Amino acid sequence: MIRTIALTAGLALASLAGVAHAAGGDGHVEDVDFSFEGPFGTYDQSQLQRGLQVYTEVCSACHGLRYVPFRTLGAEDGPGLSEAEVRAYAAQNFFVYDAELDEEREARPTDKFPPNNGVGAPDLSLMAKARAGFHGPYGTGISQLINGMGGPEYIYSLLTGYTGEQKEQAGTVLYENHAFPGGWISMAPPLYGEDVEYAEGQPSPSLEQEAMDVSAFLMWTAEPKMMARKQTGFTAVVFLILLSVLLYLTNKAIWKPIKHRADA
Ligand code: HEC
Repeated sequence: MIRTIALTAGLALASLAGVAHAAGGDGHVEDVDFSFEGPFGTYDQSQLQRGLQVYTEVCSACHGLRYVPFRTLGAEDGPGLSEAEVRAYAAQNFFVYDAELDEEREARPTDKFPPNNGVGAPDLSLMAKARAGFHGPYGTGISQLINGMGGPEYIYSLLTGYTGEQKEQAGTVLYENHAFPGGWISMAPPLYGEDVEYAEGQPSPSLEQEAMDVSAFLMWTAEPKMMARKQTGFTAVVFLILLSVLLYLTNKAIWKPIKHRADA
């Protein structure tokens, strides 16, 4: 029902403004059909696991996830790794600084992902919520009601938006990118396709596949409780509808003797 209302409102607005597609503010952001969109959308657990792999093998060379504890990788409504897998994953992939020992040690499930390595690379924990992909129509942001903020779409478009052009400016190499506001970013294209090998039996991933998976994973790090939130929202709406019906009937029942008095 919420979807229908949102859709109707959205369609009306879109046709009013004469644009039916999501216009990016500065850069070009493509709409991607993520499994977690809409009021009933959920995360796709295998996709989160693939995205985690892309992050680990590629992005973590520069970007940190310092607000994300390793133990959350075991969340049922997240990547859903087993306890043993979380422990092995943390220990095999990351070292963290231990203040008590005053040295680096293998990461444990109770630790958080380490912060950034790369110079100038921002932390990615909340990136999917910190960027808006959709600003239209005409910068009003109304399309966000239907399409969402577009954070993961922005990340997807950024990763797939390189043109191959580059230039040097004040000693920094800049790469042309359709999605990045201003068009030139200092991050070299991190993905080309076939950068990682997904679990056996899966074909080698294309650039688009990897970009989608890692964007979905970063949406999860930014909003790990999204599914619980939607569930609660849905329950609340059903409850309020029921309450409205009951109140309406009560109102009818209370006024009935007065409205139907013989001398009225
Ligand atoms: C070699 C280091 C390096 C790697 C590897 C890397 N990045 Fe970056 N990334 C950067 C730097 C540096 C910036 C800052 C760019 C700028 O502001 O010009 C950045 C910026 C970003 C941004 C923010 C763009 C914005 O709007 O400000 C996102 C999102 C991002 N990277 C995602 C990723 C993802 C996802 C991966 C893995 C697939 C990845 N990066 C791999 C260095 C890296």
